[in-house]
Amino acid sequence: MSWLRVGLLACFGVLVLNLLPAWRTGLGPTRQPVPGAQLPRQFGQPVYAPAQNPPERRAFELGRQLFYDARLSADGTVSCGSCHQQARAFASPERLSQGVGGRPGLRNAPALQNLRWRRTFFADGGPKHLETLPLAPLTNPREMGTTLPAVLAKLNADSAYARQFAAVYGQRPISSYQLLRALAQFTAALTSASSRYDYHVRRAAGGRFTAPERRGQALFRAKCGSCHATELFTDGSFRNNGLNRRFGQDSGRVVVTFLPTDRGRFAVPSLRNVARTAPYMHDGRFGTLAQVLAHYDHGMVASPTLDPIFRGPNGRLGIPLTAAEQRALLAFLATLTDEAFCRAPEFAAPRPSPGGKVRAAVRQPGIAP
Ligand code: HEC
Ligand code: HEC
Repeated sequence: MSWLRVGLLACFGVLVLNLLPAWRTGLGPTRQPVPGAQLPRQFGQPVYAPAQNPPERRAFELGRQLFYDARLSADGTVSCGSCHQQARAFASPERLSQGVGGRPGLRNAPALQNLRWRRTFFADGGPKHLETLPLAPLTNPREMGTTLPAVLAKLNADSAYARQFAAVYGQRPISSYQLLRALAQFTAALTSASSRYDYHVRRAAGGRFTAPERRGQALFRAKCGSCHATELFTDGSFRNNGLNRRFGQDSGRVVVTFLPTDRGRFAVPSLRNVARTAPYMHDGRFGTLAQVLAHYDHGMVASPTLDPIFRGPNGRLGIPLTAAEQRALLAFLATLTDEAFCRAPEFAAPRPSPGGKVRAAVRQPGIAP
């Protein structure tokens, strides 16, 4: 073996050894950081571990482009980003989401954040896997209204997409597997853990709470923290928080489990970025957080599955909150906004690129409630 060869091998070895730890700390092969690859420790072990779809810059960029590409929908007007808008922590301002042809959806589009840590998705917990989830919006006639073969045909007919997919995944033609893996690179990267609340917990600069915020935090822990628990602000359970008597429109978890005890139970949503994600509840019925607090205080209605937490003495329903307590809670909830996340350029719609024209993720606000 010549010295040249030994030298080359050594160089290669050093390169590989250098890349391995870099990969683990969220640096891609080009040593560019991959957005969201740093997992906040306070969230615990992710359900969708990075090892299942190792963060990689080009795959992430491909996923981002797909997320914002309206051509994926049946009539080329609706992208994932139409309903999931970054400035709103990827929630929608519309009461009920609006799909192709302006067709109203059945639920409010929620925030997309910290999805790696989720065991179930949707208000009823139907989907269990982040990778296969996009099949639902893509094929739902009230959302993107298309079929997988139609999407794949469009992507394969686009030479720029064909090149990009081949660069990441090698094999042609573009498959549904590749499409779903690329989308999951983007959705899994949407980690939000840089709110003022997080600075406060870390005792970092900018994290000093005002007196009302501190009071709100204590109140929140005492009165809301059993469901909106952990640093993710949800315990991942399904509960009935007293919105309806019969739940005829949308019966929640029962459509998945068929257990009568699950009628009217909905997934406890994370409250991170909640000041940005109006309107609220699975059906977007409340336009403001003040209305939500009024509901908890005096708006609840009884039904057989109403959470026992909300049954007070003498048949009183809900969580009594004085006006001052409500103001303190609002102040605390506002500290959960992660400005950096809602503005991060790496999560924004990419500029029009060879991969395709990208429709701006702006929709007309609100259909009539
Ligand atoms: C027409 C509006 C619309 C479009 C387009 C849309 N979504 Fe959604 N999305 C929703 C609604 C509404 C829900 C809540 C569904 C439910 O609870 O039943 C949701 C839920 C989700 C969730 C689960 C969030 C949670 O908290 O459970 C993910 C992830 C998601 N969408 C990703 C996507 C991706 C990826 C695309 C593009 C392929 C997409 N969405 C396109 C409206 C939309
Ligand atoms: C028994 C469990 C439970 C308790 C206690 C509880 N919540 Fe909730 N909360 C829920 C559930 C379940 C939902 C979702 C209902 C739906 O989607 O229709 C929800 C939704 C919300 C939402 C709307 C979030 C969104 O994105 O739509 C806010 C805000 C909220 N809760 C705040 C609070 C506050 C503040 C308290 C304390 C005063 C509290 N919650 C106490 C279970 C609970």
